[in-house]
This record gives sequence, C-alpha cells and structure tokens, in this order.
Amino acid sequence: MKPIPPEAPRDCPLCPRLVAYREAVRAKEPSWFNGAVPSFGSDKAELLIVGLAPGVTGANRTGRPFTGDWAGDLLYATLEKFSFSEGSYAADPGDGLTLSGAMITNAVRCVPPENKPVGAEINACRPFLKARIAALPKLKVLLCLGKISHDSTLRALGLKLSDHPFGHGTNYQVTAGGRPVTLLSSYHCSRYNTNTGRLTAEMFEAVFAQARRVLG
Ligand code: URA
Repeated sequence: MKPIPPEAPRDCPLCPRLVAYREAVRAKEPSWFNGAVPSFGSDKAELLIVGLAPGVTGANRTGRPFTGDWAGDLLYATLEKFSFSEGSYAADPGDGLTLSGAMITNAVRCVPPENKPVGAEINACRPFLKARIAALPKLKVLLCLGKISHDSTLRALGLKLSDHPFGHGTNYQVTAGGRPVTLLSSYHCSRYNTNTGRLTAEMFEAVFAQARRVLG
C-alpha cells in the first residue's frame, strides 16, 4: 500500500459531504481556492500548530491556513510577537510572510459547513495529520487550537483521550514518532471565543509563551 502523504490532494474525494459543499461554494465563487488547504510553514518546524478546518471565506478562499479568516488576525499577530514569522501578514498568500521554525495545519483540510466537521470527516482526515506530524523531523511542540484539534491529535498519536483531557493551557509530555514532544492546547482563536471573552489575546499569548519556553 502507498504511504499516506502529509498533504491531502486539492480535490480530495474522501468526504462526500465536504466535496458537495466545496462544489456548491465553487459554483458561486469559482475564483476561490475551494480545495483541501495545504499546511503552511517550514519543513524544519519545531512547532506544529493544529487548527480545526478552513473557514469558508478565509482559508477556503485564499488557500493558506487561517489566511483571510478572523481567527488568522490573532494567530498571525501572535506568531509574529513570538518570533515564529518573518515579514508582514496581510491576509493574502502573496504577502511574502514566512514561518520560522513553525508550521500551521488543520485537523480537517476541507471547509466544513458551519465550521463543523462531523466525526467521520475528522477520522477520514486524520491520516494526513498523522503523516504531517511524522514528516517533521525536528518537531518538539504540538499546539492544538480547540478540543477537536486536541482530540484528533491525541488519536493521531495513538494516545488515550481520558489520560489527556483538553483544557486551555494544558501541557502534556507525549511521544510522537518515537520522539518526546510537548502537547500544548488552547481554546480556538475563533471570532466566537474572542468575542465572548472565553479567549483573550493575553490567554492566547500565554500558550505561545509556553511553546517558546520549551523551544528556547
Ligand atoms: N482557518 C483555518 O485554517 N483553520 C481554523 O481552524 C480556523 C480558520
């Protein structure tokens, strides 16, 4: 059997509901990316940030994770603050921004209706997440945004959810591909969480500060 690659093909056929949604959006917005959004960042990443899934008018439109999404404004500003990026984020894949020692991926690579992937879709996309993690030889920190990302990452690593409950700021020492890795988690930096005050910029930065401490 062929090994699973770390990136899904742009026209990934695995999830019928997501394919149908993608095609419906494409019919209305043919100039948008409308495909499985590839991970963005460095192959030498020590930090892998695992988001949920592309937003319809954000990453699904632009083709770069969190780019053009409300959530991306906070994420990219925080990456810059902690020196994980070079250049300026301008909500456009052509902005010349690069990530330093970091990569951003999503637990689900295709846009789900209402930002809500179902269990079967999260499971179908997990082999790509698993392969993404395995393809980063320098990986030291996994930073999961939200519970879906946290749980899918634990499953990708073959770890028990009940031994590693999700919480904002949780920190677990785990093994990924035979190497020790720190698994950090944060509330997702979605508009809903920031508008309701569930997640503040300070709380989000505190998690990145933990990542920086681990990486030095
Ligand atoms: N955009 C992404 O690419 N991922 C998310 O989780 C949210 C917005």
